[in-house]
Amino acid sequence: METLQKARAEIDRIDTELARLFQARMAAAAEIAAWKRARGVPIRDPAREARVLARGAERMEDPALRPYYAAFQQELMALSRAYQSGLGLGSDIPTPERGSLGRAAQLLSEGRRVLVVTDSGVPAVYAETVAAQWDCAGIYTLPQGEASKSPAQLSALLSAMLQAGLTRSDCLAAVGGGVVCDLAGLAAGLYMRGIDCYYFPTTLLAMVDAAVGGKTAVDLDGVKNAVGLFRQPRAVVIDPDLLATLPPRQLSNGLAEAVKMALTHDAALFARFEDPAGYGDPEELIAACLRIKSRVVAADEREAGPRRVLNFGHTLGHGIEAAAGGRLLHGECVALGMLPMCAPGVRQRLLPVLERLGLPAQAEFDPEAALAAITHDKKAGADGSIETVYVPEPGRFEFRNTPLRALRELLLSLVKN
Ligand SMILES: NC(=O)c1ccc[n+]([C@@H]2O[C@H](COP(=O)([O-])OP(=O)(O)OC[C@H]3O[C@@H](n4cnc5c(N)ncnc54)[C@H](O)[C@@H]3O)[C@@H](O)[C@H]2O)c1
Repeated sequence: METLQKARAEIDRIDTELARLFQARMAAAAEIAAWKRARGVPIRDPAREARVLARGAERMEDPALRPYYAAFQQELMALSRAYQSGLGLGSDIPTPERGSLGRAAQLLSEGRRVLVVTDSGVPAVYAETVAAQWDCAGIYTLPQGEASKSPAQLSALLSAMLQAGLTRSDCLAAVGGGVVCDLAGLAAGLYMRGIDCYYFPTTLLAMVDAAVGGKTAVDLDGVKNAVGLFRQPRAVVIDPDLLATLPPRQLSNGLAEAVKMALTHDAALFARFEDPAGYGDPEELIAACLRIKSRVVAADEREAGPRRVLNFGHTLGHGIEAAAGGRLLHGECVALGMLPMCAPGVRQRLLPVLERLGLPAQAEFDPEAALAAITHDKKAGADGSIETVYVPEPGRFEFRNTPLRALRELLLSLVKN
């Protein structure tokens, strides 16, 4: 009896130690995943896995235990990989040289130089793949995040272009999300009165929205997109495989803009989002959104009229985004902003869609601060109302004037208590 108790106590002690070691091992795995992702190295490394197994066999003195220990190690390695994926670091980096990025060279005539612009959160291999095919003046890496859409970063990029000796016939290539496209597009539009810019969007939001339509901008004094140009990129190259490395929250962020286009223009596309089995092939989804956006932009490039429909969800959304002070992503705010601007029946259908896509239906923010940001963004009409886009049924929209009083009520309905 005493022997049994002793052995069980010994197992408990070992389990405690194993739990501590397991935690330390996972922490090291997370560090490795972050390092690899930053450099575009695949997470899975079969050669190293084989070495780990061989070393494990050498360490196990009792030959009878070797197969068991090997199984234990294999399980550990599988758990490490699953943990690394769960961190939103992506499972495996795609091999962009085989996708559309690898055909970037076909876009350029010979003799032109390119400065590739990216940011620190985009796997470096994407920018390197594009750079490798051209006469490359270098890769310019911005710090990741909205703060890079600033006059200071714009000025630094313009200086880098000058130092790289880019001439009027050279060009920029933007490899990144909306931040990189907006900033590089503006820099290209300003440099020597305008040089070409090619977009290689790497986020879903940029693929379905930011990279098409020719709007470029930086923020100024806390006002989003305060300084910019309408300027079309020379070409946009989309490779949906690059989404494999995008963190799930960023994917949801882009899906919000896709839902916006579906609700305003395409009832069948919206129905795809309602399918509990999933919305299907991302490539088809991107193509459907691009068809809608390019049609809208072609009809009204400078947003003098109908292009304003793309602001659906954005009037309330921008206000919430400003009031949330960086805690909410753009697409999350658009999701919130769409809800009260739909007919009740549409809202009932939209709620489960948002939930399934990982988008919020309520959030913590100060409604007065949001209202102040909305009135700062948009001038109220003489009657004290603001233009909004309203969806009476999926696939249709109306422009409406909504009084500020009503906007306050709508914002209140979105505040999480
Ligand atoms: N010009 C337009 O018409 C237009 C339209 C909509 C939005 N925007 C602008 O776009 C910006 C938001 O763009 P966004 O949502 O793409 O954000 P983003 O550019 O900040 O990218 C989001 C994050 O994902 C990282 N990332 C990008 N690609 C990745 C990949 N493939 N794998 C892993 N990580 C990756 C980035 O480093 C960044 O940290 C906002 O500034 C918004 O104003 C512009």
